[in-house]
Amino acid sequence: MQSQKMIAASVLSADFTKLGKEIEDVEKAKADWIHFDITDGHFVQNLTMGTLAVEAARRTTDLPLDVHLMIENPERFIEMFAEAGADYISVHCETTRHLNRVIQTIRACNVRPGVAIGPAAPFEQLRWILEYVDYVLVLTVNPGFGGQKILSNSAERIRTLADSIKSSGRDILIQADGGINLETIHMLSEAGVNIFTVGSALFGSDDYTTTIQRMRKVMEV
Ligand code: DX5
Ligand code: ZN
Repeated sequence: MQSQKMIAASVLSADFTKLGKEIEDVEKAKADWIHFDITDGHFVQNLTMGTLAVEAARRTTDLPLDVHLMIENPERFIEMFAEAGADYISVHCETTRHLNRVIQTIRACNVRPGVAIGPAAPFEQLRWILEYVDYVLVLTVNPGFGGQKILSNSAERIRTLADSIKSSGRDILIQADGGINLETIHMLSEAGVNIFTVGSALFGSDDYTTTIQRMRKVMEV
């Protein structure tokens, strides 16, 4: 499973006047997942979208819907996002005092759980939760906004995480999120990323199919 390489289209950079069409277009272009960035104005200084966007997307696509919760106390909203149609939900280890319980709640809702980690948080925080999750989302920019430049230590962080996953012998995918484009994708792929979350470099491009094809070529290691 760890050799899988996938592209998650992050709709934060889509044109919201035609969200349904944007999702159909990236599906036609062969994106693997649709990624939703949910913020609450507390954990990050931005308000983006909520369950309505996920529920509307569920009606337009069969692709897996991947919900990235950048909100304080995410336990309050797991059932709502599961009911809206999420297939994957990640919660930040920095946002809850009961991470294990939240991860178990996600699984109990028949949704695949992931743990997300911000760019300055130590991976030691993941030591006792890794065995309970299906994937780790590593933020490669500061949270909450599309269109930022990738942080320079991203590949090193991914390599560190990939090593500890490898030595655990578990089948856990690594998702990178933020600043991913044709220039940065190869380095991340080499470092061990499985899921590449792409916002502005995809939705800001003229032809989604060509962009995804090019990305797949450079993500081969
Ligand atoms: C950042 C978000 C990302 C964002 C990525 O907090 O989690 O998903 O949409 O956008 P780009 O690809 O533009 O950096
Ligand atoms: Zn995200």
